Amino acid sequence: MCGIVGYVGKRPALKILISGLRRLEYRGYDSAGVAFFEGSATGSKIHIQKSEGKLENVERLLDASPGRYEDVCCGIGHTRWATHGKPTTQNAHPHQTGHVVLVHNGIIENYQTIKAELIARGHRPQSETDSELLGFLVLEEMNRGSSLFEAVRKSFQRLQGQCSVVIMSEKEPGTVIGVRNGSPLVAAADPKGGAILASDPQPLLELAREVVYLEHGDIVVSNDRGMRFYDLETGAPVERHPTQLEWSADRLDKQGFPHYMLKEIYEQPTALIDTLNGLLDRATTDPFTLARQPGVELLERAKEITIVACGTSWYAALLGKYWLERWARIPVNLELASEYRYRDPVMNEGTLLVGISQSGETADTLAVLRKSKKSEIPTLAITNVRGSSISREASATFYTCAGPEIGVAATKSFTTQLLSMLLFSGALMLKPRAAAVPGDITRRFDDMIRLPHVLSDYLGDRSGKMASSIRETARALQLSKGFFFIGRGYSFPIALEGALKLKEIAYVHAEGYAAGELKHGPIAMIDENMTVVVLAPGDTWRDKTVSNLQEVKARGARILGVGSASDSELKSMCDHWIELPNVQLDEAFMPFFLTAVVQLLSYELAVLKGTDVDKPRNLAKSVTVE
Ligand code: F6R
Repeated sequence: MCGIVGYVGKRPALKILISGLRRLEYRGYDSAGVAFFEGSATGSKIHIQKSEGKLENVERLLDASPGRYEDVCCGIGHTRWATHGKPTTQNAHPHQTGHVVLVHNGIIENYQTIKAELIARGHRPQSETDSELLGFLVLEEMNRGSSLFEAVRKSFQRLQGQCSVVIMSEKEPGTVIGVRNGSPLVAAADPKGGAILASDPQPLLELAREVVYLEHGDIVVSNDRGMRFYDLETGAPVERHPTQLEWSADRLDKQGFPHYMLKEIYEQPTALIDTLNGLLDRATTDPFTLARQPGVELLERAKEITIVACGTSWYAALLGKYWLERWARIPVNLELASEYRYRDPVMNEGTLLVGISQSGETADTLAVLRKSKKSEIPTLAITNVRGSSISREASATFYTCAGPEIGVAATKSFTTQLLSMLLFSGALMLKPRAAAVPGDITRRFDDMIRLPHVLSDYLGDRSGKMASSIRETARALQLSKGFFFIGRGYSFPIALEGALKLKEIAYVHAEGYAAGELKHGPIAMIDENMTVVVLAPGDTWRDKTVSNLQEVKARGARILGVGSASDSELKSMCDHWIELPNVQLDEAFMPFFLTAVVQLLSYELAVLKGTDVDKPRNLAKSVTVE
């Protein structure tokens, strides 16, 4: 949610803070700010510039004093996504309380009690935030004689809830302290001397490749000589080993695409290849042999699987359920994490709980994993982010290798989640329970290896046939009152995903339905102002879906058909038509092509509407609050 950066060292700190915050913009935010020691790190006065709205507003404030801040070499920065209090400049971080200045990500759950106590002791918080209150606690401790380090430690003992904080004090110029108490925080030593801290690794990339993911309950003290780690509760030093980051800074740039989302749609074939290379044992050509890692054993031992996820990840899980049941004949329960965590589910013995989350930070999914772990249920995570909270919580983790996804709307992270589900279905198909025919296993495996290449050919480039036909279709449909996406079987989860993508980035009303459900209510919405996107590849469900198409066509809807290139009958029933590649692949692979279609369609409609495609309103990339 909120983004945090802190830097102390020998380089121009404001440049590092601003470019770090830029790299965190993808998380979604509504205000931003920086705080820094004016002059050199030994200068004692902290200066704050913050504003509601975009980071540019903060840059404008800094630009108003050209040259004044060139010597700054110690500071902190923040992008805020409002939870407590409105997105105003007053509520924006950093918050200053006397000589203490801090930025905060997460929630202080007992903030009302703390606020009442502070007010009773004569303090007057200036903002509506929970974050500012921590500053008062630290100030009180320092006024009693504690160092900043001790004051932060003691203050945290008063807090309930998950958060991370980066904090400085005018009494200790040139020191930046960070705490991870649940919400993520990473740190890297600057090779030129000093350190950089941030809520995720992206801002660190320009300075360092070796980063330390703080553990829950760690405190890091940084200054221009480097950084040291301690236990938040006891204050004792702890050793933390750096992880080598695989992401290079240039991969983060748009590489010529107008939006990150579009670049990420086109990166899907590569992301699939990277994920296959990461999860498969490439030393053997035996089909569906997973690289040996702790998760494989958990999967193989499972008698039943329960998957929890949210949003797009839940749709990946839904398709996973279809594949796992059909190929591997293993019972799969699918649950929305936000519902499951507050229910009293009954679990059969031998159940494996799988949490899917691209960010690895989604609060509800994380909570279910934690709860399951407490009940000694084996847990498996599927995530795109190494070192994320979910990966640390689960008994074992499989990583998708989509690389950094900057567009807020999930694209390549989704298709790599799908691929991991397909891989597990294939691996479990080898079990006696599945009773699969050996020829089927090999054919499906060969198809899976071909998949990234076929998808790459299908996507072509921006001026290719597929992209052009989708652009044209979007232009023709841009005035539709609303969209229904319908599909059956393997296409149903993609209908849900198509509708979500369109809502998210184009702000157009859209619903996804299992095509057979239309007549149970939604069909009442159909008239000539509605577009129905019919996902009907030439698979087991094609004929049934076409019957549903006829029902909506008869009621005046405009039909956009997405089907097999050879399906001239279906094409003739549609007002608009997007064809799938003319290749022989198992029907289980069709969702990857349908996904590319619905992603690009949403993208083109969003561009026509002029929305902020990469940072849609009201959304955040990692949802670390309930
Ligand atoms: C949609 C989207 C969200 C996420 C959901 C779960 O484009 O990105 O619906 O899928 O917030 O996020 P993760 O996968 O990070 O748990």
